[in-house]
Amino acid sequence: MLKKLNHIAIVVPDIYKAKKIYETKFNANVSELKNFKEHGVTVVFVELKNTKIELMQPYGKNSPIQKFLDKNPDGGMHHICIEVEDIKKIHKSLKEKNVRILGSDKPSIGSHNKPILFLHPKDFCGTLIELEEE
Ligand code: CO
Repeated sequence: MLKKLNHIAIVVPDIYKAKKIYETKFNANVSELKNFKEHGVTVVFVELKNTKIELMQPYGKNSPIQKFLDKNPDGGMHHICIEVEDIKKIHKSLKEKNVRILGSDKPSIGSHNKPILFLHPKDFCGTLIELEEE
């Protein structure tokens, strides 16, 4: 059911600072800043050989990650994203297994323009899991 790790997302209080830390301390390749108004986040991607780290900072007043930052003012790991083949099929199967889906309870289009689902952390050992169609 689960395929590749797509990304690990880390919430940061200052995206410019975070970008610089990865660039200077690790000499990492970090993408340019991107604002996703509709998702309420500003992100950069740290390129790794087998996956990427998504650094995210709240964008706008109603950012869905603001609460997380209020609780974790230094930032911290927010979610992991795993690729799946057929999100509708998996959605159905998870519903049958009583897994709680966050948000609208249906697959939505994520910031990578692909169908995604966020699964309740209480159903997965305290980790927020994003599933993204390959
Ligand atoms: Co994500």
